[in-house]
Amino acid sequence: MSRYTADSRDRVRDAVDMVALVSARVDLQRRGVNSYFGCCPFHEERTPSFHVRPDEKHYHCFGCAEHGDPFDFVMQTEGLDFKGALEFVADRFGVTLQTEEEDPAAASARQRRERLYSLLTRAATYYARYLWEAGEAEPARAYLLGRGFSEEVLREFRVGFAPDGWDRILVGSRQAGYSDEELLAAGLIKRSQRNPARLFDFFRAQIMFPTADVRGRVRGFGGRRMQGEGPKYVNTPDGELYHKREVLYGIAQARAAAAKAGRMILVEGYTDVIALHQAGIHNAVGIMGTSFTREQVQELVRLVGTLELCLDADTAGQEAMVKAARLASDSKLELRVVPLPPGADPGDLIAREGAEALGERVARSVPFVVFEVERILQGADLRSAEGKDRAIGAVSPALAGLGPSVLRDELIHRIAAALDLEESRLVTLLRESATGSAGNGRGTGASSRDRDSGVPDPGPAGSGGALGAERGVRSERAFLAMCLAAPGPGAIALAGIDVDALLTDHVLRRAARHLAAHAAAPLADLPSDDDDLARAVADLVARAARGSEVTADQIEHSRLLLELRRLDREIKRARADKRPGISDIARERQGVRDAIQRVVARLEQTV
Ligand code: CTP
Ligand code: MN
Repeated sequence: MSRYTADSRDRVRDAVDMVALVSARVDLQRRGVNSYFGCCPFHEERTPSFHVRPDEKHYHCFGCAEHGDPFDFVMQTEGLDFKGALEFVADRFGVTLQTEEEDPAAASARQRRERLYSLLTRAATYYARYLWEAGEAEPARAYLLGRGFSEEVLREFRVGFAPDGWDRILVGSRQAGYSDEELLAAGLIKRSQRNPARLFDFFRAQIMFPTADVRGRVRGFGGRRMQGEGPKYVNTPDGELYHKREVLYGIAQARAAAAKAGRMILVEGYTDVIALHQAGIHNAVGIMGTSFTREQVQELVRLVGTLELCLDADTAGQEAMVKAARLASDSKLELRVVPLPPGADPGDLIAREGAEALGERVARSVPFVVFEVERILQGADLRSAEGKDRAIGAVSPALAGLGPSVLRDELIHRIAAALDLEESRLVTLLRESATGSAGNGRGTGASSRDRDSGVPDPGPAGSGGALGAERGVRSERAFLAMCLAAPGPGAIALAGIDVDALLTDHVLRRAARHLAAHAAAPLADLPSDDDDLARAVADLVARAARGSEVTADQIEHSRLLLELRRLDREIKRARADKRPGISDIARERQGVRDAIQRVVARLEQTV
């Protein structure tokens, strides 16, 4: 990547008018020489505590302690990285940035990328003009406007139409000086399979949605077919610039609004994003159907603290939400779910109920755990005692992450009603089901008596030493294999554990989730894009088949040993963080030890 010279960074900083820059976001009042105040854009407040010193080009909030220079301000408010912020400020104050001398290889790679970008931009402009000007595009225009999209919003998103010809882009781009190889790399043309010498346009007779990155550079397209056979959408194939896993449709239009709101609304499709945008809801991006990836999470985490999942209520959409939760659990993203009526997507809802109604739905979003509990209750067999037990096992890990709260109380109320149990009884059952998984680093007794609590030292088994870790993974594998070997109690055990808390190995975590969802036929339904998972599951199935018969007590024994390891990790972490509440964890650990003894006594009797 080309770097801007330190000198041009300094020149940009010199050129900044700090009051003008901040005033775009904050109403500033002058209070003395070189001193302005306004309401902080980074936290809610009514009395101004956001202070700007234009001479120093510095801001500082006395309320929330946010502070920084012009580039920090732009990174925060516009959701840009440093380079993006530098370009933004340079552009705003009319400074030309100079790049450092590059080595020849880097320079030619950059020039290549820039040519591909400009080729794609040209194509986007061509398709957009074609939509509005060509007679051939009349049905597409009528269709889009008929769906209620305004010309203004369609132009803002550079929606276009690809002509129904074989070589319009090909010929036009060649004339503009681009090579066939560049056109292929940009995904704008493809080779005929029958006659590889023949090249033709990749997109033909389709409505075109350009997909741009966070800086607004076009990287590829989604083409929507209006009639005929085949899939509704075709996207640019993955290549040098376009990576489907990274696409967040509409990110460039959404980023400033999202950074300001602290939240991003996640929808499935191109048309959903545009409909929301037109309705005045600008902080929305599309994830190309139901794929949701680590790359997308990484991009979003830089921008916002909260994700509002506004996906179809169908099974695929629900699975996407669960996947999102899994991906987000490693990051700091807070997840909320916008409840939608089954079969409706946000675009449809705006058409049906109007923008305000959708805005209200978003405002009524619920924490992910509420959605998860409802989902479990809906899928549960609440007529049988076993079904209720399974439901309790399944909701227990979801609730374990919640500290004492009104939300937790309400959920318990709801679950108790659904299971037709006394609340106090449910609480007891939940506690027993979750022995161990209630920890999650949120010790409840925040007292200072931990120092003398006589917590046993975890010793090497629980420590992070390589040997200990290896042994830990072995017992995790053994536990999962046992669950497979005894399908009845195994399924219950799998449903009841907090996978992330109990297992340390990432592949085994995925395997445990897969087994919980596909207990009957674990080898069927393996996702095609996860080889590690497939290998691990096959290995577990083989181990289960090799082993001897397994009883519920043996599974329980194996699970308790993992709990013990988990608590040892917990204690170690709490000590390292100097966190209070160690005595609570220690008590829990003692409980697990007692339980182990009881199981061992039972096992000895049966042998
Ligand atoms: N998608 C895709 N390829 C497909 C189908 C869907 O990439 N063959 C992605 C597109 O990003 C699409 C999203 O999944 O926008 C959601 O699909 P769908 O709900 O079927 O389409 P909509 O966006 O609702 O399109 P429309 O409103 O025009 O029907
Ligand atoms: Mn849709």
